[in-house]
Amino acid sequence: ITTSIGIHDIAFATGSYRIDLAELAARHGVEANKYYIGLGQSEMSVLANDEDVVTMAATAAQRILDRGDSRPIRTLIFATETGIDQSKAAGVYVHRLLGLGSDVRVVEVKQACYSATAALQFATALVARSPEEAVLVVASDVARYEIDSNAEATQGAGAVAMLVTADPAILEIEPVSGLFTEDVMDFWRPNHRSTAVVDGKLSIDAYINATTGAWADLASRGGPAFESIERFCYHQPFTRMAVKAHRKLAASVAELGNDEADVQLDGTFDYNRRIGNSYTASIYLALAALLDTDDDLAGKRLGFLSYGSGAVSEFFTGIVSAGYREHVRADENRALLDGRTPIGDEQYLALQRFTPADVSNYETTRETPGRFRFGGVDGDKRVYEVV
Ligand code: CAA
Repeated sequence: ITTSIGIHDIAFATGSYRIDLAELAARHGVEANKYYIGLGQSEMSVLANDEDVVTMAATAAQRILDRGDSRPIRTLIFATETGIDQSKAAGVYVHRLLGLGSDVRVVEVKQACYSATAALQFATALVARSPEEAVLVVASDVARYEIDSNAEATQGAGAVAMLVTADPAILEIEPVSGLFTEDVMDFWRPNHRSTAVVDGKLSIDAYINATTGAWADLASRGGPAFESIERFCYHQPFTRMAVKAHRKLAASVAELGNDEADVQLDGTFDYNRRIGNSYTASIYLALAALLDTDDDLAGKRLGFLSYGSGAVSEFFTGIVSAGYREHVRADENRALLDGRTPIGDEQYLALQRFTPADVSNYETTRETPGRFRFGGVDGDKRVYEVV
């Protein structure tokens, strides 16, 4: 029986545009510091017309495939809040774009921002049964709220791909999880809407409640001591949310003050602060950012708090593998963020407001510099191209 299972490789992708939140602040008539400091966000990624959750997911996953691993991928789990079809899994398009074989099972999972963590846990179970196989988990989301709402500054877009295997090179996931589920209407998206409905203040309270609830379950099941955890990666709808939740947890569990609690989040904000909310991908962008810092985390235990409105949360832990540094992509990742094209409010609004006159048939303009593009819809069929 293989006991060491976890994340062997991790890579992300995002939109090819970015907007500085000062642009939004000017339209909203607030100081930029409300977003920079109050929310802890500096900019957000915006998709080109011909990018979507599928093209981002394929781009992130291609980075993993390019590196090559001898173990065959037998399962692809696509985690998203931003579903593009009520029936077909978006992962099936990704499967084709990546050129994976027909001997792969593909499925899509959903529970707001939580589903990538469920996918990761399902993947570890599959690998435990067949340790010679690999599972590709892809989390991909576009966070959309109403224009001019106070949630607008917490939008974003991103995808994270993770290869889950035995004897992982990056993070071994420990077996004990803390779970917390509660039916709460803090954030949801009815089938007829392209933007989420949100009760902002309730969502913050629900997130904090779910954090302490999941931790209590972890502790009651003999999970690791709080003091043994070096850093904590939280779901980051905006980075200050992680600070709020962790301060509460650290005070109640370990009587830590705010400054001591904040240190335990060091290094986890850099990517989400620049990408914005990427829903299910967000917590794994926190991990990617942490791995890319200069800190030596080998052998250290990390804590993870995954939260999906509605609401389901999970607290789990993992041990960073020896030699993980040889597998991270710090320079490549920073170049990817720096390489996005800055846009102003006018261009951003035009992209957000784009609605085709005929939703069953339309073509997108050629914009993305990426390898995969969403060409539009032809007779209700989504068209994806490898450029
Ligand atoms: N300088 C510095 N700070 C300032 C400032 C200034 N000039 N002006 C305001 N601030 C601070 C405020 O004091 C506040 O900080 P505290 O909460 O620490 O007091 C912060 O900026 C935000 O200000 P408001 O509370 O007034 O902000 P708001 O009400 O306009 O909007 C929000 C904030 C409710 C989070 C809204 O952006 C929203 O609804 N976002 C979407 C929902 C969300 O992300 N919820 C998070 C939990 S749910 C979840 O995690 C799932 C998910 O991904 C959606």
